[in-house]
Amino acid sequence: MIYKKSADEIAIMREGGKILAGTMVRLEDAIGAGVTTGELDALAEEIITKAGATPSAKGYRGFTGAICTSPNNVIVHGIPDETVLKDGDIVTLDVALNYKGFHVDNAKTYPVGDIDPAAAKLLEVTEASLEAAIEQCAPGRRLGDVGHAVETLVEKAGFSVVREYVGHGVGRAFHEDPQIPNYGPPGRREVLAPGMTLAIEPMVNMGAAQTKLLDDGWTVITADGSLSAHFEHTVAITPDGHEVLTRS
Ligand code: MF3
Ligand code: CO
Repeated sequence: MIYKKSADEIAIMREGGKILAGTMVRLEDAIGAGVTTGELDALAEEIITKAGATPSAKGYRGFTGAICTSPNNVIVHGIPDETVLKDGDIVTLDVALNYKGFHVDNAKTYPVGDIDPAAAKLLEVTEASLEAAIEQCAPGRRLGDVGHAVETLVEKAGFSVVREYVGHGVGRAFHEDPQIPNYGPPGRREVLAPGMTLAIEPMVNMGAAQTKLLDDGWTVITADGSLSAHFEHTVAITPDGHEVLTRS
């Protein structure tokens, strides 16, 4: 079932979202050639903890990082380690935190130094697809409208939408109902209503949509080795539309 949040609960999530957005800005500043994903993870954990929150990923089903770090052909759930970022890479930081009992979730794919124009286009289109999804968020609209907005924009650009991993409700639990696919027909599925809090997170591959799970049980890569991008915001449905709780 979908848990609707009260105004007081959304106020807490708004505060958590501010902490998270600020964390993302500081992480972006730290990204550069020569930095390891493990160093970004340690920095994220320090920032989140000092703000009085806890990293949602740490210990979640045995995940070892405080955040997910997913470079280049890694789609999602990359484990922070000794991997050194280099000029021309892209890297997704997927960061979630629990503040006063409520989770908020935010992801962004960043360029490392100068990236090639095709990679830049992938980032631009994926972020635009998230914004198109957010535009659909208002009472009376349906979840199918959200996924359809992503799929339409991404496929027009010649990229492909990942299907095996989806967005989700977010709140007292890191992952709540409903599941939010980034594809599908409009006008179907649940009707959006005030108080719903949704983590919308398109994952977009430059090549084919197919994915492959590595033996570590977490890291999801593109089956064809192509680059992948991922942007995510936590969005509250409000009486007159929506509020992005993780906007910086
Ligand atoms: N932020 C990710 C998501 O909801 C969380 C993945 S679980 C983790 O999509 F443990 F790997 F972080
Ligand atoms: Co998420």
